[in-house]
Amino acid sequence: MSQKLLLEVKNISIDKVNTSLFVSSVFKNEKVNKSFHSLFGKTIDSAIKTDSFKGDLGKKIELYSDGKVSKISVYGLGVKNKFDSDKLRSLAANIVRNIEINKVSSVCIDSNSFGLDDSDNAQAFSEGLLLGQYKFLDYKSKQDKSNLKKVIFIGNANLNSLNKGLVIGESVNYARDLGNHPANILTPTYLANEAKEISKTKNFKIKIIDVKEFQKLGLGSFYSVARGAKEPAKFIIVEYSGGKKGDKPFGLIGKGLTFDTGGISLKPPARMDEMKFDMCGGATVFGLMKAVAALQPKLNIVFAVGASENMPGSDASRPGDIVKAYNGKTIEILNTDAEGRLVLADVLSYINEKYKPSAMVDFATLTGAVLVALGNRATGLMGNNEDLINQIKESGTATNEKVWQLPLWPEYSKDIKGKYADIQNIGKAGAGTITAGAFLKEFVGDTPWCHLDIAGTAWGPKEPSYQPKVGATGVAVRLIYDLIEKKS
Ligand code: BES
Ligand code: MG
Ligand code: ZN
Repeated sequence: MSQKLLLEVKNISIDKVNTSLFVSSVFKNEKVNKSFHSLFGKTIDSAIKTDSFKGDLGKKIELYSDGKVSKISVYGLGVKNKFDSDKLRSLAANIVRNIEINKVSSVCIDSNSFGLDDSDNAQAFSEGLLLGQYKFLDYKSKQDKSNLKKVIFIGNANLNSLNKGLVIGESVNYARDLGNHPANILTPTYLANEAKEISKTKNFKIKIIDVKEFQKLGLGSFYSVARGAKEPAKFIIVEYSGGKKGDKPFGLIGKGLTFDTGGISLKPPARMDEMKFDMCGGATVFGLMKAVAALQPKLNIVFAVGASENMPGSDASRPGDIVKAYNGKTIEILNTDAEGRLVLADVLSYINEKYKPSAMVDFATLTGAVLVALGNRATGLMGNNEDLINQIKESGTATNEKVWQLPLWPEYSKDIKGKYADIQNIGKAGAGTITAGAFLKEFVGDTPWCHLDIAGTAWGPKEPSYQPKVGATGVAVRLIYDLIEKKS
């Protein structure tokens, strides 16, 4: 869980600071702030000399005194022209972990040395603090709670951007929490209740479609997955109206499989526990809802999550079954483990028809194949619209949430042509991530759309250092919030 942090900016000189821990930094081969000499005497120079500290990135020196500042940590920022806001985000994560080791309740940060008057730097810094501090302890009976309550920025710092970074960090951590909860706790109903809670915020409206209504509404594809489970599936739709009345909403859609056993096409047991993370696309949507609720961007948005378990119950779909999706297309289910696309088929076509969105982006832990292609370093990106693809790539660069485009040429659609129905839910030969994308493309009409396959990035990455040591990453919350800002 994310712990509450209070941020404060104090524009006073360093000599006036009174704290048990002061954190500063210096670029490689540059001189540390002169005022440290008045705090620590010449010991700072000898410490730098003794540790041969030159300001390399990843290096630090620490000094103690019995003056007004009891301890100072000076971090190296490396070479000035190679430094960027993502390195700062990473550094902030390392810094907060060290602060936690010191068990202090408040800390002072030398804002000027970190360049925190710049809005990108300020946002990245507080994101890094929150992301680095994250631990999922909800089920540990002995909790090693954080002591840190307050971060005081000394000097010039952009408080608005610092606070925005805090909100985004909290939103990513919220998405991580949802991902990390086990499937016996985090059910589709749990997610629906979370959405209800968020929807109490200004400009929010909620609609939840229960599994009982799926067939009647024509959500035959989603239903084919939901029917095998006793736990009731939920189609969660949240509208946010922060933009002009009548402006088409931007659609954000998530795969919310709270557990994926594979269904009748049962998965092998090794690492099946990780399939609790199969709702991480939905968690991304929830993280974005949280950020939007707090920051109220000027844009209309429709959030949608298809939440279900994929279980091999006696009423489960069988390989060979043929179902009809919301847009009328018939689908042959050849593998019940390719369930995410079946859920998204209906979520995408329903949102597209009912809300006429200006564009849609979906997030899904859709294929193991994306791990073969990109490992856990980048999210697979596909879409039907170059402009939208380029916008997402730009936000990917801005946030260092790496995306890599895979082609969706029409040829790939041949691989999902059905023998007995319009299409089938698996491909014929290779390119598993792309054929899944080609399948989704059948359900978005002419609406600009992108698909992010986050199966490799939703959990597992350990770098950069602001990623958690274990569990869900909250991938694409920062990425898509950047896009929302650019659109609003
Ligand atoms: N949730 C899985 C994808 C997945 C697998 C994510 C491993 C992360 C790690 C998805 O529902 C799935 O099972 N996909 C199948 C598709 C196949 C049957 C065409 C897969 O990737 O094996
Ligand atoms: Mg599956
Ligand atoms: Zn799945």
